[in-house]
Amino acid sequence: MWSSRWLFILAAAGSAVGLGNIWRFPYITGENGGGAFVLVYLICIAAIGVPVMMAEVLLGRAGRQSPINTMRAMARASGAPRAWSLIGWVGVLAGFLILSYYSVVAGWAVHYVFRMGGGAFEGADGAFASQAFADFLADPWQVLGFHTLFMVITVFIVARGVSAGLERAIRVFMPLLFVLLAVLLGYGVASGGFAAGFEFMFRMDWSALTVDGVLEALGHAFFTLSVGMGAIMAYGAYVPRQASIASTVTTIAVLDTAVALAAGLAIFPIVFANGLEPGQGPGLLFVTVPIAFGQLPLGAVFGTAFFVLVSFAAITSAISLTEPALAFAVEEYNAKRSRVAVSLGVICWLLGVGTVLSFNVWADVHVVGELTVFDFLDYVTQKVMLPLGGLFIAVFVGWVLPKTIVGSQLGLREGAATLLWSVLIRVLAPLGVLAVFVYAIFYG
Ligand code: TRP
Repeated sequence: MWSSRWLFILAAAGSAVGLGNIWRFPYITGENGGGAFVLVYLICIAAIGVPVMMAEVLLGRAGRQSPINTMRAMARASGAPRAWSLIGWVGVLAGFLILSYYSVVAGWAVHYVFRMGGGAFEGADGAFASQAFADFLADPWQVLGFHTLFMVITVFIVARGVSAGLERAIRVFMPLLFVLLAVLLGYGVASGGFAAGFEFMFRMDWSALTVDGVLEALGHAFFTLSVGMGAIMAYGAYVPRQASIASTVTTIAVLDTAVALAAGLAIFPIVFANGLEPGQGPGLLFVTVPIAFGQLPLGAVFGTAFFVLVSFAAITSAISLTEPALAFAVEEYNAKRSRVAVSLGVICWLLGVGTVLSFNVWADVHVVGELTVFDFLDYVTQKVMLPLGGLFIAVFVGWVLPKTIVGSQLGLREGAATLLWSVLIRVLAPLGVLAVFVYAIFYG
């Protein structure tokens, strides 16, 4: 059991804050034209992500088992079909698929720890930084090496169990990440790109937003909060009985959103001050940040620290991706934690090779339509599996689970808060996901 509500907040924030905030949010904001996309993303967080996250935590705390068995127990308690445990199974699969490419991108960050440390970007301009990243991606062996390194570290930590040391580290590293984002922000102001970056992120240009962009904002809201596949449900199993779920979840969501917005505000000024392309895709973080640190005094030190922190944020997220599968295997088959961790790591590592190759040797291999292996995994997990998982979690907690369980978990008495919760979980969250799906299918 987490020793206090704060420990759970730290672990859940460690899961939520990761590549999704620092790498993914800025680049998809760039691809989708800025402000309007950011607004839709914020609405999805507040109206859909937060209620579904609350639902996951309350299920986890009520069931106190792995997500699969928690869903079985909760379905039984509701007199509902056992098939609801499919939420847990699909979540396990989603965790594998996400971790396979998450590890590859985290490997890029680890690579940049060494690159920055070696002073490779001193005085670098946009062209140099872009070329450096392209050259790195073009070499499958290097990318594979860092993917392997990241996976080995993750498996090592997971095998030893979520430890107290990790929580202490989160407590130190998370504020440091904010400090370094603030340094980048300061650089953005000084370099004169801040106004353009700010305007890009917050000016509403609705013509830039496509149907697919709306689906992307929805999927990203789930991804960045780590909800829709049971990771937060698995962590919820350890939340102390007396903690308030609503305020705990709100704290995590605010923190997560703050990191994403800070990352955007740090990166877009660099984009505009250096004449870079905001919609250039997954390389955005790795092309912009080295330029800034390359021009700052002590840049090699700060830049190294920055990518260490990003890699660390990625590890605490990766750990949570394994938790549903791990908890289930341990409790159902009495399997050894370390054994499960290694098997899981091998499977995800193998799957990840597809993503490694999709940026070089297999760049022209398309799984469906125009989608490379990486694009496909990203699409299926983020735009299909997580929103569907979230939809079913919301329907289950809103319409199937007995009110007595929900009420006692949330500490609800009759009143405005209860009404707001009901509207969110029963109507807004499920209909929101459905509406975006329908819209994407018929107008996309
Ligand atoms: N939220 C993490 C990030 O933003 C990624 C992540 C960790 C995740 N666990 C998850 C995404 C579970 C979806 C589901 O980087």
